[in-house]
Amino acid sequence: MSNERNRQSWNALSRFYQRTHRIALDDVHYGPYSPGEKDLQLLGAVKGLDVLELGCGGGQISVVLAKWGAKSVTGMDISDEQLRHARELAQEQSVKIRFLQGNVEDLSALDDDSFDLVVSSHALNYVENLFQVFVESARVLRPGGRCVFCLGHPIFYVLGDALEAEDLSLIEDYFSDERHSWEWLDDQREPIATFEQTYWRVDQVINGLISVGFNITRIEEPKGYTLAQIDEQGLDALPYIDDDHATEEARRFIETCSKVPFSLIVAATLKRK
Ligand SMILES: C[S@@+](CC[C@H](N)C(=O)[O-])C[C@H]1O[C@@H](n2cnc3c(N)ncnc32)[C@H](O)[C@@H]1O
Repeated sequence: MSNERNRQSWNALSRFYQRTHRIALDDVHYGPYSPGEKDLQLLGAVKGLDVLELGCGGGQISVVLAKWGAKSVTGMDISDEQLRHARELAQEQSVKIRFLQGNVEDLSALDDDSFDLVVSSHALNYVENLFQVFVESARVLRPGGRCVFCLGHPIFYVLGDALEAEDLSLIEDYFSDERHSWEWLDDQREPIATFEQTYWRVDQVINGLISVGFNITRIEEPKGYTLAQIDEQGLDALPYIDDDHATEEARRFIETCSKVPFSLIVAATLKRK
């Protein structure tokens, strides 16, 4: 139910989202106004690898991985419209990528032991069953294969709105397992689409990966760039920005991302099966 709602919502949002955000085609992003792969170096060499991207959206990360020399790139997403953008982008960028439509909780279209690397950036908070994604990722990875999963950091969910609005009553419950429903607003502050997400706790992410056979090799909670750093390096250097970055609201968001991490990134290696 929730996945179907998110599919429809991403279909409704996709054109607006792709028009109003700039996602790098020469770096892998790990969230807005924050360091990307070129700085964090989590993926290792991708040259010659069979790579799967879960929740590939408009295809930017898959395109980058193909440009960086992956042997094959498969991108899966639930949204027809996001995939339409992804296919057009891959064609424009002259890279060959296999895009599949589906819910990443079910990778049955993909063979066991068929990938070296599974990546995902800001898609796994939408799924209803994160553990199932881990089970499926372990199945399709070859022994010794790796995953790098970037999720919304639960601490940002708990404190983000409260810090932005300077209102402690907006602090959320870290321990609540409830799905969180929220609306994406357009330029006129009108709702475009409603999404449902779970802000997975750190223990759910880490213990889930360990219990399906991964060794955790690194965790990153990147500090977002401060306004001064952004002014200094310029927006073009950032792997992911929103085009309304100059508004007061966006500046408060950027400040908040430099105080609490927006993203939780976990890199792990699959032990021998
Ligand atoms: C914020 S976008 C991120 C897209 C891409 N990873 C990027 O960083 O640009 C989230 C994406 O997750 C996809 N998504 C949400 N739930 C999904 C599910 N259960 N299975 C597959 N894709 C899903 C949405 O359609 C959307 O394209």
